[in-house]
Amino acid sequence: MGVKSKAALAIVVLLLFLGSLWLQGGLDYHWDACIKGYNHMNKLHHLSNGSETTVVDGSVVIEVCPGQIFQVSLLLSHLKAASADPSDVLLEPYLASWDELVKFMEALGPMVGLISKEIETKTTIIRQLASFQEENPEAEINPEILPMKNGAEQGAVSHTTEYRSVRSMIHVELERGLVDFHQQTDSGCRTLLRLHRALLWLKLFLEKVADTPVTGRLRSPSDLCRVAYQKTLANHHSWFVRRAAELAFIAMPERTFFFRLVCVQDQDELSMVLTKVVLALEKVYNRTQVALEEHGMLDLP
Ligand SMILES: *[C@@H]1O[C@H](CO)[C@@H](O)[C@H](O)[C@H]1NC(C)=O
Ligand SMILES: *[C@@H]1O[C@H](CO)[C@@H](O)[C@H](O)[C@H]1NC(C)=O
Repeated sequence: MGVKSKAALAIVVLLLFLGSLWLQGGLDYHWDACIKGYNHMNKLHHLSNGSETTVVDGSVVIEVCPGQIFQVSLLLSHLKAASADPSDVLLEPYLASWDELVKFMEALGPMVGLISKEIETKTTIIRQLASFQEENPEAEINPEILPMKNGAEQGAVSHTTEYRSVRSMIHVELERGLVDFHQQTDSGCRTLLRLHRALLWLKLFLEKVADTPVTGRLRSPSDLCRVAYQKTLANHHSWFVRRAAELAFIAMPERTFFFRLVCVQDQDELSMVLTKVVLALEKVYNRTQVALEEHGMLDLP
């Protein structure tokens, strides 16, 4: 047993111990999917030559990468759809982007896959709020806490558009007094803030993996992920969670794994694909940030 696999084993044991502190949703992560992701050897497709790529308006259009559960092309199209509205973020494609990012994290191995469980819990909360509104257009979300509004006021809100976008969600939850600025609740806004912070971490990580230094050695994805984490999510996590997360990043695959994951051959191609993703993520991130900031929601408990 090599040093690396011993370290990995130690991490598994530690994570099982720390897992309950980390996750609210238990430890039912999908080993199967992760192992499949690891073992699946994909045919390499040359970006600038293969059938996967077409060039439109001088920019690369990324197409399906065979054999992968995570599809970078799908992520890009969801992100693009999320920012279709000029100054808002549409929630349905935003959450669909997260579905794809969860697959990305699960492809990085069981350790990082653990973190994605927390994300799935969050996307589920927002989806449930949205579908509750759709099915019960006349109902307040929490009638016990909220005074019933009169019919005229209720009629003023267009039901189908309540959870359509980040801004409409903020608007409707504020109006109904669902956002608690002092204690933790399961409001959509509070939940979105958690996703929003995690998005910054992934954006920074991908940005670092895309970065190709002119001189010097490329750093390992594991290092880069840790650095990105320390600059972002770590600021919001407790000591235990930070230790567990940093251990999880040690077991992250090498850079060549990322080539296979998005069907590229070398760092230049990886950089090209990831830069596109980072820009799309940044657009969505910036708009969400502005909307949350405008409503004083960057520190919701
Ligand atoms: C396509 O592949 C061929 C042979 O591998 C190479 O000579 C050519 O430069 C490639 N084309 C592009 C656009 O990269
Ligand atoms: C996002 O915001 C940052 C900081 O305000 C800015 O530098 C960057 O250009 C913005 N990116 C996009 C894609 O809008």
